[in-house]
Amino acid sequence: MARKHIIGGLDIGTTKVVSVIAEAGLHGHPVIKGWGECAALGIRKGVVIDKTSLGKSIAHAVGMAQAMAGLSIKEFYCSLPYASQPAGTCEITDVQLYEAIAMAGVTIRQAFSSVIASAEAILNHTHKHIGTVLIDLGGALTGLAVYNQGEPVLTRMLPVGSEHITSDLALCLRTSLSEGERIKRSLGLLRPDSSTTLTISGVGGRANRTVPACTASDIIKSRSQEIFELVYQALSQHVRLASLTGGVILTGGGSLLKGIVDLAACQMNCPVAVGHPVKLAMSQEEWGSPVYASVLGMVLYGAKGSTRRTGNQTGWREVISRFI
Ligand SMILES: Nc1ncnc2c1ncn2[C@@H]1O[C@H](COP(=O)(O)OP(=O)(O)OP(=O)(O)O)[C@@H](O)[C@H]1O
Ligand SMILES: [Mg+2]
Repeated sequence: MARKHIIGGLDIGTTKVVSVIAEAGLHGHPVIKGWGECAALGIRKGVVIDKTSLGKSIAHAVGMAQAMAGLSIKEFYCSLPYASQPAGTCEITDVQLYEAIAMAGVTIRQAFSSVIASAEAILNHTHKHIGTVLIDLGGALTGLAVYNQGEPVLTRMLPVGSEHITSDLALCLRTSLSEGERIKRSLGLLRPDSSTTLTISGVGGRANRTVPACTASDIIKSRSQEIFELVYQALSQHVRLASLTGGVILTGGGSLLKGIVDLAACQMNCPVAVGHPVKLAMSQEEWGSPVYASVLGMVLYGAKGSTRRTGNQTGWREVISRFI
């Protein structure tokens, strides 16, 4: 009987850790066997502040995936918040992150910056050849990757993300982060009419308050605009956006903000769409959310490994190595 090709994907994000165990099926298409997800504890603003807590989060997510799959693999293709190199096997320069991974008993097969990992699940061959910008709007970070003629020509990690919208709301409306998160998700960037109000729960025993929904909407809009200004600045120094026929594709949890496509298109002055991970054999619809682009990208990359080993492809690693 043929030996099964099992792939482990792990995304250590700034808000969540997700682990997926899959089996490479026909033609290398992965079939998901196990899935585990939990909050990324011990990371604040994209920086590891408590390696023990993060190690427990990683161990928990991996343990859940292993239990569901009935397999105890230890080696994973990892997507990391900051990687020392844009793509390919990379050194983890953050000692705390390295130790957290080791504490969880995980061995890194190959590590990638999260935006490159997402690109594997979001961008197809055509996108990469005609010129496309991928923007991974995460919790504390925004990752940028520009592909042209089949290769990544620019990657950047900006230290700003969707969590900043949440914390702005909490701060300006004097409420909790969870309330800020609720308001962000329900309101998004859709303009409420001027008479609409929001009831906000008070913190520290204070009574609930009512605020105009437009106030909250302005807070969300101004931070979102700032994020895209930073993105535009980072990109326009290096590439001419108008020459990238594929336009801009948004992914990551921040791309779920209602109305974000219109705001991004207006600020970037080019076509914008939200990219969902390519369909894998998965039993749950929500696994196709942009939130899971990085981990699914790692599984897809790992699944291609069997094809690479047989020498049928040029090898992504080989192409990348020309850039690093
Ligand atoms: N439905 C939604 N509407 C608006 N924002 C959302 C929605 N769902 C998730 N988000 C936001 O997405 C962010 C998390 O995105 P994601 O899961 O891609 O981050 P991450 O991978 O953990 O972080 P990073 O990529 O920065 O390391 C959170 O700030 C969350 O508020
Ligand atoms: Mg991410």
